Amino acid sequence: MSIPDIKMSGGHKIPQVGLGLWKVKEADEFRTAFGAAIQAGYRHFDSAQAYGNEHLLGEAWKNSGLKREELFLTTKIAVQHFGYSKAHSTFEESLKKLQTDYVDLLLLHFPVPLLRKKSWQALEEIQKDGGAKSIGVSNYTIRHLEEMKDYAKVTPAVNQIELHVFLQQPELIKYCQKRNIVVEAYSPIAHARAMDNEVIAGIAKKHGRTYAQVMLRWCIERDLIVLPKSVTPSRIKENIDIFDFQLDDKDMEAIAGQDQDLRTAWSPVHVP
Ligand SMILES: NC(=O)c1ccc[n+]([C@@H]2O[C@H](COP(=O)([O-])OP(=O)(O)OC[C@H]3O[C@@H](n4cnc5c(N)ncnc54)[C@H](OP(=O)(O)O)[C@@H]3O)[C@@H](O)[C@H]2O)c1
Repeated sequence: MSIPDIKMSGGHKIPQVGLGLWKVKEADEFRTAFGAAIQAGYRHFDSAQAYGNEHLLGEAWKNSGLKREELFLTTKIAVQHFGYSKAHSTFEESLKKLQTDYVDLLLLHFPVPLLRKKSWQALEEIQKDGGAKSIGVSNYTIRHLEEMKDYAKVTPAVNQIELHVFLQQPELIKYCQKRNIVVEAYSPIAHARAMDNEVIAGIAKKHGRTYAQVMLRWCIERDLIVLPKSVTPSRIKENIDIFDFQLDDKDMEAIAGQDQDLRTAWSPVHVP
């Protein structure tokens, strides 16, 4: 099965499904999940300094037999590593752990007050030097993205935000897509915290698909990147098996009514 790509502003492509790696820290569990993902067709992996598993990702891809250019690897600068010099030095450590001389996508993990401007400057330099093919941000609101117009030489290629049927963020999606900033949906299954919604269950039944597949397909219909996390091989396969059905207008309308502003991760909304 081939997974569609989306073209980012700098011209590089990003596969529309990536395996989320938050909380996948145990070595055996990581290897099993990575192996199942490769088998199912994933080539995109979403790591971060804060996840404590860059070294496991490095080891796993090296042992996979795949060429580096066949994979799409993301990492993120952790909040405690913000600042110009720290972003530079800790990124060097990330590259070593990942056993590569570049990442496909490097993100600032959160809009850390005071330090985000200098940290972005470091990312621009890392990109210029070839350490990251694309650079972007995560958890940025419209306000944080507008502020970047004052200091950024490069517009972020992506904004990775919490996004799912229960936290739809239509204004932020519209804003990003208008500026050609690709939106990555993190926690697209809402961290498995709301698996009992009758509308979603009904749509899943109608299409003969699972509840999680409807949640993920909704993101695909909106031209988003999805980053479902699972360490369960059957779910890993299920979560990428979403390109042979579509949600119709009636489904999309019904899902639009399910927004609950449900946040399952940290919120950037009140970050100055
Ligand atoms: N940038 C950020 O600040 C940020 C924040 C949060 C997340 N993220 C990224 O987004 C990724 C995904 O988010 P997430 O880990 O919070 O949550 P998620 O992908 O929405 O949900 C993961 C949970 O759902 C379960 N699950 C997965 N597939 C399922 C299925 N088909 N049916 C039923 N349950 C299923 C998983 O269980 P099992 O693993 O036991 O199968 C796990 O408990 C993260 O791993 C990370 O890469 C980024």
